[in-house]
Amino acid sequence: MEIKSVRISVGKGYDVSIGKNLLGSCGELIVKAVKPCRAAIITDSTVEKLFLVTVAESLRNAGFTVCAFSFPAGEQSKTIETLSAILEFLAENHLTRTDCVIALGGGVVGDIAGFAAGCYLRGIRYVQIPTTFLAAVDSSVGGKTGVDLRVGKNLAGMFIQPEAVVCDTDCLEQLPGEVFSDGAAEAIKTGILSGEQLFSLFENGDVKSSLTKIIETCVAFKGSIVETDQFENGLRKTLNLGHTIGHAIEKCSNYTISHGHAVAVGMAVIARAADRLGLSDPPVAPRIEKALIRNGLTVHTDFSAEELTAAALSDKKRAGDEITLVIPGGIGSCYLKTIPVTELNSVIKAGLEER
Ligand SMILES: NC(=O)c1ccc[n+]([C@@H]2O[C@H](COP(=O)([O-])OP(=O)(O)OC[C@H]3O[C@@H](n4cnc5c(N)ncnc54)[C@H](O)[C@@H]3O)[C@@H](O)[C@H]2O)c1
Ligand SMILES: [Zn+2]
Repeated sequence: MEIKSVRISVGKGYDVSIGKNLLGSCGELIVKAVKPCRAAIITDSTVEKLFLVTVAESLRNAGFTVCAFSFPAGEQSKTIETLSAILEFLAENHLTRTDCVIALGGGVVGDIAGFAAGCYLRGIRYVQIPTTFLAAVDSSVGGKTGVDLRVGKNLAGMFIQPEAVVCDTDCLEQLPGEVFSDGAAEAIKTGILSGEQLFSLFENGDVKSSLTKIIETCVAFKGSIVETDQFENGLRKTLNLGHTIGHAIEKCSNYTISHGHAVAVGMAVIARAADRLGLSDPPVAPRIEKALIRNGLTVHTDFSAEELTAAALSDKKRAGDEITLVIPGGIGSCYLKTIPVTELNSVIKAGLEER
């Protein structure tokens, strides 16, 4: 059994283990980072049925005392109410400062379980076991956790790094196609940011048989950025490629379009805008569109530039009369560009126009 290991050097640092057939021995990997203690597995109703028994048994075999909490699968569970129920569960099960939370699931589980670990007793340790492609390539690493508020997504949360991440690529085999594509969108984003090697896999390669390599590359790339900018004051903002417009699309659709699918359209729009406004060389949009479509994603939206601009500017996390966009100047050469908010509409318009 070959295991790839990527070290993320933030705080005291942690290892991301990636490979096939890891769930059954996750306890052995986790115990290297967290000595046997009480482990509260937090998961959702879908993942519970697929993997909870295997993970709980492996943790018990490694010496952990295990309890488990599950909530209904889906973004609609990423709320203060679910967070509250998890915190009560941790208290009822007598978890102490030396115990730990195990987040078993996709990005929703990872975000809410990480946040719960960060607030319970002012912070206990947690481990990520990502089971979606998106969680594997993106959300399980970097320490962003949180929940949605009624006013907007991810508006409450904290930065708190996990103790370890265990990613079993076999889990991804059971993912519905649409959910797999969500992860492909974030991985293609990393390809556009990091360069040809990763990007070309999505452009021409065999994605399904390269999962370990893709996840390893994405995690290492994100890790290198988070190591220099843990709290997103500068460089980490480049990870938001496609996200200004992507978040606007999510919002305009009343969150019926998922994060990855919206970010895919966001990347296509900003790539076409970059080409048409002379911000890229050579043109990037044809290649980016091809990679997205080939991996089950769309590159067009029916929302108007005005609708998207209004949604982007109402983003509760945005401040001031300027907005910073990530411009795909080329594959592997993206850069930040701050523009007055009054120019956003024309940038989006350039990216929407049919030619
Ligand atoms: N923290 C971060 O840095 C970060 C980054 C990107 C996205 N996110 C967040 O991640 C969330 C989206 O994550 P997601 O796409 O993983 O969604 P998700 O966690 O809702 O998972 C999608 C669906 O797949 C199911 N599922 C999970 N694993 C499965 C498996 N192995 N087989 C079959 N079904 C499985 C889930 O039960 C769910 O129904 C959003 O809330 C987003 O805000 C966070
Ligand atoms: Zn994202």
